[in-house]
Parts: sequence; structure tokens; C-alpha cells
Amino acid sequence: MSVTLRAASPCAWLEAVLADFNAFLLDHASAERKAAAMAVSFVVQYPDKFALHKPMIQLAREELLHYQQVMALIHERNLIWERDTKDPYVTCLIGMMSTDSEMRLLDRLLVGAVVEARGVERFGLIGGQLKDELGAFYTKLSQSESRHTRSFLSLARHYFEPLPIEKRLDRWLDLEAEAMEAVPPRAALH
Ligand SMILES: [Fe+2]
Ligand SMILES: [Fe+2]
Repeated sequence: MSVTLRAASPCAWLEAVLADFNAFLLDHASAERKAAAMAVSFVVQYPDKFALHKPMIQLAREELLHYQQVMALIHERNLIWERDTKDPYVTCLIGMMSTDSEMRLLDRLLVGAVVEARGVERFGLIGGQLKDELGAFYTKLSQSESRHTRSFLSLARHYFEPLPIEKRLDRWLDLEAEAMEAVPPRAALH
């Protein structure tokens, strides 16, 4: 089982990012920080689900490293935050998760997988456009998001049967495409 996104990011998204890359970097840093916090929250909220702990702590470390790397780019450019806003795409997906505790765990893992898959696509698009070190950095980020997608899926497989995973993933792939398309293209990760 893999994650194949149902809608490609519009060209207008990449254009918006390249037109204001500094604004994109500020948002990207914030997305990495939130991804690290989300990974830690799995460990805190599921203290008895030991199989989650090692991969989620590893994930948090990697996201924090990405945060550090993006912050270095921000410091090089002397950029300063005006404000840290909510990510409308992630907020929309979280709002559609089940409130039933078992199903919510499955949803959290699958939303993690689809959001990481969007990261694979978008960082790959940026990496393909930018030259030199910055392009190589984004291509590398795309590859790590791909590992993160697999990690979320393998945890889903550890705790759930194939059929509910397949059904729920099918639904999340539709919802993810809708959530992505609902956000007007802007210089932000989502
Ligand atoms: Fe990341
Ligand atoms: Fe990630």
C-alpha cells in the first residue's frame, strides 16, 4: 500500500512560492516546527502504544533538524517573523478526523502519511526549480518526507487491519485533495 495523491499542486502554487521565497521560508520553518511537535504529541497521547514511540521520536528529531536547517536560511537572509499563522490545510484535515479514540489514531496516522506525501511532491517541485545548494536541499527534504510517509503507513499497519486502512486512506486521499485545492496558491508550504 502506498500513498498516491489524487491532485497535483497547481502551477500557480510554485509560481507564488518562487515569487516570494522569503515568505515561503518563514512558513516552511513554522511547518517543520509544527511537524516536530505533532510527532512528540503521538508519544504523549499514546503512552501505552510503545510501537509508536521510537519512530515518532525519530520523526520529531528529523523535523527539528529540518527546522534548524530552514532557520539557518532565515538567519542568513535576516528575515523576521511578522506573525505565525495557522495552516488552513492541516487545520481542515484535523477538523475532519474521527472523534472515536481508536479511529482517531488511524486517522492521525493516515493524515500524517498524506500530509508527508504532499511534502514529497511540493519540496520535489521546489528542488526541481531551484539551482545549486538550495535546490539540492529541497530535493533532499522531499526524500525524507517520503520516508516519513512510509513510517506513518507502517505504524497504521501495525495497529490496524488492511481493510479499514484501505477504506480510510481512500477517504483521506479525497479529503486531502479537496483541502489542498481549497487554499488559494500562496507563498507557503500549504
Ligand atoms: Fe520535515
Ligand atoms: Fe516530514
